[in-house]
Amino acid sequence: MTRTSPASSTALPSLPHWEAIPDDLPAAIRTIKHALQGRIAASGRTVEEVFAVIEARVRAEVADIAAAKARGETVWPVIDYTDIAAGSVSAEQLAYLHRRGCLVVRGHFDRDTAAAWDRDIVDYVDSNRFFENYRGPGDDFFGSVGSKPEIYPIYWSQAQMQARQSDRMATVQGFLNHQWRHESDGVQWFDPDRDSLYPDRIRRRPEGANSNGLGTHLDPGTLDLWMTQAYQQAFRHLFDGTVEQYDPWDASHRTAGPQYPGSTMCSAFRTFQGWTALSDMDHDQGVLHTVPIPEAMGYLMLRPLLSDVADDDMCGVTVNRVFPASQQWHSVLLEALTGIPDVKAGDSVWWHCDMIHSVAPVRDQKGWGNVMYIPAAPWCPRNEAYAASVRKAFITGSSPSDFPDEDYERSWPNRFQLDDLNAVGRRGLGIDD
Ligand SMILES: [Fe+2]
Repeated sequence: MTRTSPASSTALPSLPHWEAIPDDLPAAIRTIKHALQGRIAASGRTVEEVFAVIEARVRAEVADIAAAKARGETVWPVIDYTDIAAGSVSAEQLAYLHRRGCLVVRGHFDRDTAAAWDRDIVDYVDSNRFFENYRGPGDDFFGSVGSKPEIYPIYWSQAQMQARQSDRMATVQGFLNHQWRHESDGVQWFDPDRDSLYPDRIRRRPEGANSNGLGTHLDPGTLDLWMTQAYQQAFRHLFDGTVEQYDPWDASHRTAGPQYPGSTMCSAFRTFQGWTALSDMDHDQGVLHTVPIPEAMGYLMLRPLLSDVADDDMCGVTVNRVFPASQQWHSVLLEALTGIPDVKAGDSVWWHCDMIHSVAPVRDQKGWGNVMYIPAAPWCPRNEAYAASVRKAFITGSSPSDFPDEDYERSWPNRFQLDDLNAVGRRGLGIDD
């Protein structure tokens, strides 16, 4: 543990910070909570007062979402790919995207392309006898359906790489990245026009599937969000008496600092998590939900500091498991949980990296539920470092280091090859600048 003061707030007491997981977690939680409470008090405000500011902002959005649902409106913003590509997204649409922090891109790829990719994935795994060789889930983060997996630990198919390095993907990622503030204090925190091609898995959930879904959680980190110096600076406005200035779209201090390792950690900084639909999916067939309120992160960060939470409890957040959003501590947020509208193959779905999300359960699913996970992960120090390990995994056909080392594709001859990379792909993997 070391102490230093952020240069901008030297009048306030400094915060202890741990750049790696503390040895004594309960003691570290007590220490950081006490320090954060003390820092807020030294700013001349109380924790309750600061929390009330965020809570009022969030409650207003929860009410707005409930009213929109009551009117039968679609809560998720929907923008046509053609408008993004033409630069003709209206100011009103942009404002709504900022307010809700999530987006469906209609017609991101045409349906024939998406359907061909879906078939390509089936051919790819069949031709390499994937199901015969499948050894079961490499982690317990997602369940599986029957003997066939729902999540394919496959990273290097032609379909995935063609999508990742496509101009249409780069166009949407750039549009999304530009919604963030990526420069401040003379620092460019990330390059909005270059993505790092974060490789992730595939989900193919068959007709008739039963799935328990995935509970409400968020993915940006765990205790490191309060305990490392970089995140303390990123969330500085919550803890230094300037809560009104907290901006969930400010990437300052978010793209270079360390993270606490864990089985669910994403090494990349993602402006948006996302996936591309490879089948049509109706809104009531076990689909993604979010709490579409980016400012809710302020609520999640401040809630453990209130006096009704035990001294060594961060509202259930701990290392090596996903950050839970729970009825016990976050019930007001969960009221706003909202599913995506119906999507078609070729549409893509995006949500701000700090937002609460879940996957609804489904019984006897109608139609397939197939997606390729492709986020927006712009070039920045953190993503550049991870790209070095991605390059190695790509060359050898291994599982990327963020995922279990199942390595199914190493001997698969028809995986995507180095020579298949275009200029976007080469820059994304850091082969060209
Ligand atoms: Fe997640």
